[in-house]
Amino acid sequence: MTDTDITTTTGADWAAWQESWDRQQEWYMPDREERFRIMLDMVEALVGPAPRVLDLACGTGSITARLFARFPGATSTGVDLDPALLAIAEGTFAHDQRVSFVTADLKDPDWPAKLPYDSYDAVLTATALHWLHREPLAALYGQVAELVRDGGVFLNADHMIDDSTPRINEAERALRHARMDQAKADGALDWSEWWQLAAQDPVLAEPTARRFAIYGEHAEGDAPPAEWHARVLREKGFGEARPVWCSPSDTLLLAVK
Ligand SMILES: C[S@@+](CC[C@H](N)C(=O)[O-])C[C@H]1O[C@@H](n2cnc3c(N)ncnc32)[C@H](O)[C@@H]1O
Repeated sequence: MTDTDITTTTGADWAAWQESWDRQQEWYMPDREERFRIMLDMVEALVGPAPRVLDLACGTGSITARLFARFPGATSTGVDLDPALLAIAEGTFAHDQRVSFVTADLKDPDWPAKLPYDSYDAVLTATALHWLHREPLAALYGQVAELVRDGGVFLNADHMIDDSTPRINEAERALRHARMDQAKADGALDWSEWWQLAAQDPVLAEPTARRFAIYGEHAEGDAPPAEWHARVLREKGFGEARPVWCSPSDTLLLAVK
């Protein structure tokens, strides 16, 4: 099946939507699966193979899917604000008792009250917190520190930009975008094309309209350097914090409480 076939064959083929979402995200991050793999390595190393996880800004539940594939004894709570991505997540995991999904705005000071648990072994997030500016992100880190049990972990895989290296950043960006342009010419879907497809799906059209009313095309935020994340996480109550993987544009940051 190609990307453009999804809406014409069935409006609720959740596996096809997951696959299409993964391909769209990989267009931006070719190393995405490697990031997930190291994320779960660090989970296993620090909290073991049956963790209670909070999949923060879960989208379609990408982290939860990889978590369950690797650790069948894990449990997960997915939290997000996007009704269309949550519809895909809920459709995908419809009969899986190990996971529940919560609709919440991570900028709402009371969002943790909506969770089914008040403590987690691991809070995991990917490609999401750059949607927040530094001030709300620092406040969110304070809430995350309260949700992680002592000895538990927080892992954030995201764009983290080192402003002290502008020439490196520009050269890396130019190469990455040239490759993306080539992939697009070869048929890859970008963010806005993917959402146009979702808007045409009979099941996703309504939640997609709602998500555009909430976010517009995309929320504006910051992508501070890894050092900023590590410092703020320590200030908010984590004992240790540092990158455990990075690519030229992305970092996986691990904090241990
Ligand atoms: C690019 S997606 C990544 C989803 C998933 N983690 C993945 O890797 O596929 C970013 C997600 O962050 C969520 N998000 C952004 N700001 C949010 C907020 N203030 N509250 C809740 N979710 C938010 C969006 O709704 C979206 O699902």
